[in-house]
Order: sequence, then structure tokens, then C-alpha cells
Amino acid sequence: MNVREVRIVLTRLQSYAGLVFLLLFVPTAVVGCQTLRSSEPIVPIAEYEKMLVGRLDADYVGTENCLAACHYHDQIRLDFEASTMGAQMAADSDLPMIDCESCHGPGSLAIQGLTPEKVAVDAAAGRQTPCDYETLIVLKALPAQAQSLLCLKCHTANATFNLHEWNAGAHALGDVSCFPCHDVHAGPDLITSPKDTKEMCFKCHREQAAEFRLPSHHPVMEGKSFCTDCHQPHGTFHDNLLREETVRATCVRCHGEVEGPYLYAHADLMNDDCTICHADHGSVNNNLLKLSEPYLCLQCHVGHRTSSDPATGETKGVFYTRCTDCHSQVHGTDVPSASGRGNFTQ
Ligand code: HEC
Ligand code: HEC
Ligand code: HEC
Ligand code: HEC
Ligand code: HEC
Ligand code: HEC
Ligand code: HEC
Ligand code: HEC
Ligand code: HEC
Repeated sequence: MNVREVRIVLTRLQSYAGLVFLLLFVPTAVVGCQTLRSSEPIVPIAEYEKMLVGRLDADYVGTENCLAACHYHDQIRLDFEASTMGAQMAADSDLPMIDCESCHGPGSLAIQGLTPEKVAVDAAAGRQTPCDYETLIVLKALPAQAQSLLCLKCHTANATFNLHEWNAGAHALGDVSCFPCHDVHAGPDLITSPKDTKEMCFKCHREQAAEFRLPSHHPVMEGKSFCTDCHQPHGTFHDNLLREETVRATCVRCHGEVEGPYLYAHADLMNDDCTICHADHGSVNNNLLKLSEPYLCLQCHVGHRTSSDPATGETKGVFYTRCTDCHSQVHGTDVPSASGRGNFTQ
């Protein structure tokens, strides 16, 4: 075929394109709709889980069958069923995959050997018959992303709103899965209370644990403020997983008294970032200051004595170390100082 012939074929194909579309895609779309309407299992995820187990012949058998011959897991089961998660995943909900196998994967192989005869023999000998649990998904061994995927198949961003930015967050990117923070077998109450968060976070963030023990600190150890006041552990597009876009906006959520705007503001500092002067978590200096006074101020200003002789211009008086003894409104003020300028003295 030369170039011209190819062109002709292409033009013909184009004129048939509408028909081809109708024949090929419309029936597929109709079939697709039917599948969507029925409440079949989400096949790809089910197949994926079977692949994780490593045997495509494993099948879902349901919690009743799973636990029929086994009382090892009674407490786990009771707790789980009493939790909101268990209650909503119970058999009569319309969720495609339910109960223990939702996370542990299809269990038919695990209970294969659990015949009533074997259970009876073991019971007579005073022992329980273990299931072949190694045929289940080895959750521990999965890569972090796959672990999270098990949870995210139900906790989609639409269902669990604060997971909207999960994939962008430092935790997802840093290979932290849902598991280390949420123990789904912790008991019947799976809600994370703010007071539990510091232990949750200190498991990995040892350095911050030390910062909150410094003499001046946000009262996280005292249970009056929480990591989650300032951070969204599920991920944000902001730096340092902060709940607000900037550090300043995060701080003034609680410290509205220094938000301003002021007639005399401390230059642009107050619009920039409170952490020019303050530590975020803790500091050895009063008021969470990064440096003690006067060194904090002397980074940018020349210090001065309190008065000077008008005749000679020679400075007298004492060089005070706490600049804020006089410049008490260091963040800003609406009141001019004695000279009529804004020197934050009142
Ligand atoms: C929402 C997901 C999920 C569901 C549903 C679930 N589990 Fe688990 N299970 C986990 C995770 C995650 C682990 C911890 C895995 C690890 O890190 O070793 C775990 C661990 C376990 C363990 C290991 C022992 C332990 O306490 O660490 C047992 C036994 C267990 N689950 C039984 C059950 C039973 C029985 C059910 C149903 C009543 C169930 N699980 C439902 C997620 C789930
Ligand atoms: C088969 C679907 C499903 C899977 C898989 C699943 N969840 Fe859930 N989860 C639910 C439902 C339904 C609820 C209750 C409704 C709600 O509070 O959003 C829930 C609630 C929760 C809650 C809040 C409990 C409360 O009382 O509000 C936490 C925490 C949670 N799940 C963590 C996890 C973690 C971690 C995983 C993965 C190990 C996981 N879930 C996997 C369906 C699921
Ligand atoms: C770094 C720790 C951390 C990780 C990782 C994490 N969470 Fe959370 N999660 C929390 C904290 C803390 C809360 C408490 C609510 C808050 O203050 O935002 C919470 C709340 C929740 C809730 C609401 C119910 C509750 O406990 O208050 C659900 C549901 C949930 N997380 C699911 C997940 C899922 C699913 C994943 C994995 C994709 C995940 N979380 C990963 C720390 C974490
Ligand atoms: C009062 C608000 C606030 C609280 C409470 C808070 N943080 Fe932070 N955290 C910040 C700010 C602001 C930054 C960013 C600092 C910067 O930009 O220099 C930050 C940064 C971080 C970082 C990044 C590394 C670093 O230290 O700069 C980690 C990790 C962290 N915080 C963990 C925690 C943990 C864990 C807790 C609870 C024990 C906690 N934070 C409580 C405000 C807070
Ligand atoms: C399982 C360990 C683990 C736990 C538990 C954990 N983190 Fe992290 N966190 C990490 C890792 C890993 C990173 C990524 C570090 C990096 O990229 O340098 C991280 C990063 C962060 C950052 C810095 C984000 C950035 O942009 O650099 C903050 C803030 C943070 N975590 C807060 C928390 C808070 C708050 C909690 C408790 C709710 C928590 N973490 C629990 C492991 C953990
Ligand atoms: C969730 C509310 C909250 C947020 C957000 C917050 N703080 Fe605080 N801050 C507090 C509380 C509570 C105290 C302790 C007050 C007390 O003990 O009287 C405090 C105390 C302070 C102190 C005085 C410390 C001392 O030793 O007396 C400074 C300075 C401070 N915060 C700065 C900041 C900065 C900077 C930010 C932003 C990184 C910030 N705060 C964000 C609640 C908050
Ligand atoms: C130029 C340095 C500087 C900047 C920038 C700054 N501060 Fe301060 N801040 C100080 C000093 C110095 C003190 C101690 C005041 C004193 O000793 O009277 C202080 C004290 C505080 C206090 C505790 C005492 C009080 O007045 O209640 C809070 C809260 C505070 N600052 C919040 C903030 C916040 C929020 C920001 C950002 C919007 C911020 N600061 C920006 C220097 C600064
Ligand atoms: C990061 C640098 C920086 C730090 C730290 C800093 N300042 Fe400033 N300060 C400035 C800038 C910039 C101006 C605005 C200067 C201008 O407009 O000419 C200013 C203005 C002032 C003024 C008004 C006088 C003038 O020249 O406009 C006073 C008073 C002042 N600062 C006191 C303090 C005190 C007290 C501290 C310590 C608690 C402090 N500053 C810490 C940068 C800083
Ligand atoms: C004993 C009180 C006192 C102390 C302590 C003090 N100042 Fe001042 N400062 C003043 C007064 C009063 C003014 C003039 C106010 C006015 O404009 O009326 C002033 C003015 C200033 C100015 C503006 C100078 C100008 O040309 O307008 C700066 C900058 C300043 N101080 C920085 C500091 C720094 C930095 C420290 C700490 C090393 C400090 N001050 C300690 C009382 C004090």
C-alpha cells in the first residue's frame, strides 16, 4: 500500500467511525450499567486480595464459618463487632466484603483442615485446633501502601473526609501506613481521642517528645493541647502537615490576641512567620523564644541604654537585658510611644 491508499483507507474508516462506535461501545456501556446497578463484590479488589494470599483458589467463607470451630478470637470478635466499624460491616449491611475477611483476605484455605472430627479429637485431648493462618494475608509483611489500600478500599476520601489529602501527605510518602496509628483490634472503641495522640506520635517522633519536655512548651504533656491541634496526620498539601496553609495562620487560630492588624506592627515579621522568634514545640527560653533576650532582639537591632545626655549625646543609664520590660507590646500596638513613633512601649 502506498501513502495514498493508506489515506483512502483511513478516510473510509473515519466515515465508519460512528457505526463502529455504536457497535462496540454502546453494548459495553449498557452491560457496564447493569454491573454497576447490581451489588456484586468489587471483583478487582477481591481478585487482588486472592493474589496477595498467593492462591487464587482461596475463597471468602464469611465470619461465621471462619470462627465456627475457634474460640481463640472470641474477644477480638466481640470487640470488633461492638465497634462502629464492626457494626456497620455486619452481615446485613450491603457492603461487598464483610467482617474478618475484609482485611485478612479469603479464609477458605485457612479453615480447610478444621473438620468437625479433627476439632472433636483435639477437644478430647484438651486443646484447640489452630486454623492454617499462614494461608491468610500476612498483613505485617505487606508494603505500607498495600496495607493502607486495604483500609482505603472502604475509607475512600468521600467516606472519610479527612483522608482527602492522604496521598499527598508526608506519612503516605514516608511509607507510614494506617496500621501504626490505628489498631483496629484495640477494643470496642476505635475513635482516636485527642489525649491518645501524643503516645501515638511519639512512637516514631522521639525528637519532638524531647522538645515538649523543655522548660517552655506547648502543654501537650499536660493534656491541654494536642499534636492534632496543629497537624493533620492524614496529610495536607501544606508544609509540615500543618492544618493551616502557613505557620502564622496555624498559630493565630488560638492566639488571636497577637493576630493584628496593628497600626504599628513589628515590620513584616508579624505577617511572616511566628517561628522567626518562637519555637513551635518547646524551648529552653521563656515564652517559647528561640533565643533569650536580649540576644533575640540583638540579631536585628542595636541595643541601647535608657537615656542620653541631650547636650553631649553621651548615653547614660543601664543597658537592660530584657528589651520587653519596656517594649512590652513587641508584636505590635495601636498606641504610639512617647516620641510619637511606634516603638511598642505601650
Ligand atoms: C479493618 C481491618 C481488619 C478487620 C476487619 C479484622 N482485622 Fe484482624 N487485624 C488487622 C490488622 C491490621 C492486624 C495487625 C496486623 C499486624 O500488624 O500484624 C490484625 C491482626 C489480627 C490478629 C493477630 C493477633 C493480634 O491481635 O495482633 C488476629 C488473630 C486477628 N486480627 C483476627 C481477626 C478477626 C477474628 C477478625 C474478625 C472478627 C478480624 N481480625 C478483623 C485488621 C483487621
Ligand atoms: C470493609 C470496609 C472497611 C474496611 C476494609 C476498613 N474499614 Fe474502617 N470503618 C468502616 C466502616 C463502615 C466504619 C464505620 C463508619 C464510619 O465511622 O466511618 C469504619 C470506621 C473506622 C474507624 C472509626 C471508628 C469510629 O468509631 O468512628 C476507624 C479508626 C477505622 N474504621 C479504621 C480502619 C483501618 C485502620 C482500616 C484498615 C486496617 C479500616 N478501617 C478498614 C469500614 C471499613
Ligand atoms: C500518623 C498517625 C495516623 C495515620 C498514619 C492514620 N491516622 Fe487516622 N487518625 C489519626 C488521628 C490522630 C485521628 C483523630 C482525628 C483527628 O484529630 O484528626 C484519626 C482519625 C481517623 C478516623 C476517624 C475516626 C477517629 O478515630 O477519630 C478514621 C476513619 C481514620 N483516622 C482512618 C485512617 C485510615 C484509613 C488511615 C490510613 C489510610 C489512617 N487513618 C492513617 C492518626 C492517623
Ligand atoms: C502549637 C502547634 C503545634 C503543636 C501542638 C505540635 N506541633 Fe509539630 N510543628 C508545629 C509547627 C508550626 C511546625 C513547623 C515548624 C517550622 O516551620 O519551623 C511543626 C513541625 C513538626 C515536625 C517536623 C519536624 C520539626 O520538628 O520541625 C514534626 C515531626 C512535628 N511537628 C511533630 C509534632 C508532634 C509529634 C506533636 C505532638 C506531640 C506536635 N508536632 C505538636 C506546630 C505544632
Ligand atoms: C510509624 C511511625 C510514625 C508515627 C506513629 C507518626 N509519624 Fe509522623 N512521620 C513519620 C515519617 C516516616 C515521616 C516522614 C519523615 C520524613 O520524610 O522525613 C513523618 C513526618 C511527620 C511530619 C513532618 C511532615 C513534613 O512535611 O516533613 C509531621 C508534622 C508528623 N510526622 C506528625 C506526626 C503526628 C502528629 C503523629 C501522630 C498523630 C505522627 N506524626 C505519627 C513517621 C511516623
Ligand atoms: C490549639 C491552640 C494553640 C495553637 C494553634 C498555638 N498555641 Fe501557643 N499556646 C496554646 C496554649 C494552650 C498555651 C499555654 C497557655 C498557658 O499555659 O497559659 C500556649 C502558649 C504559647 C506561648 C507561651 C509559652 C509560655 O512558655 O508561656 C507562646 C509564645 C505560644 N503559645 C506561641 C505559639 C506559636 C508561635 C504558635 C504557632 C506555631 C502557637 N502558639 C499555636 C495554644 C495554642
Ligand atoms: C520579633 C519577635 C517575635 C515575633 C515575630 C513573634 N513574637 Fe510572640 N513574643 C515575642 C516575645 C519577645 C515575647 C515575650 C513577651 C514578653 O516577655 O512580654 C512573645 C510572647 C508571645 C506570647 C506569650 C505572651 C503573651 O503575650 O501572651 C504569645 C502567645 C506569642 N508571643 C505569640 C506569637 C505569635 C502567634 C506570633 C506570630 C503571629 C508571634 N508571637 C510572633 C516575640 C515575637
Ligand atoms: C528578625 C529581625 C528582628 C528581630 C529578631 C527583632 N526585630 Fe524589631 N524590628 C525589625 C525590623 C525589620 C523592624 C522595622 C525597622 C524599620 O521599619 O525601619 C523592627 C522594628 C522594631 C522597633 C521599632 C523601631 C524601628 O526602628 O522601627 C522596635 C522598638 C523593635 N523592633 C524592637 C524589637 C525587640 C524588643 C525585639 C526583641 C524582642 C526585636 N525587635 C526583634 C526586625 C527584628
Ligand atoms: C528601660 C526601657 C527600655 C529597654 C530595657 C529597652 N528599650 Fe528600646 N527604647 C526605649 C524607649 C523609651 C525608646 C524610645 C521610644 C519612643 O519612641 O518614645 C526605645 C527605642 C528603641 C528603638 C527605636 C530606636 C529609634 O531610633 O526609634 C529600638 C530599635 C529599640 N528601642 C530596641 C531595643 C532593644 C533591642 C532592647 C534590648 C536590648 C531595648 N530596646 C531595651 C526603652 C527601652
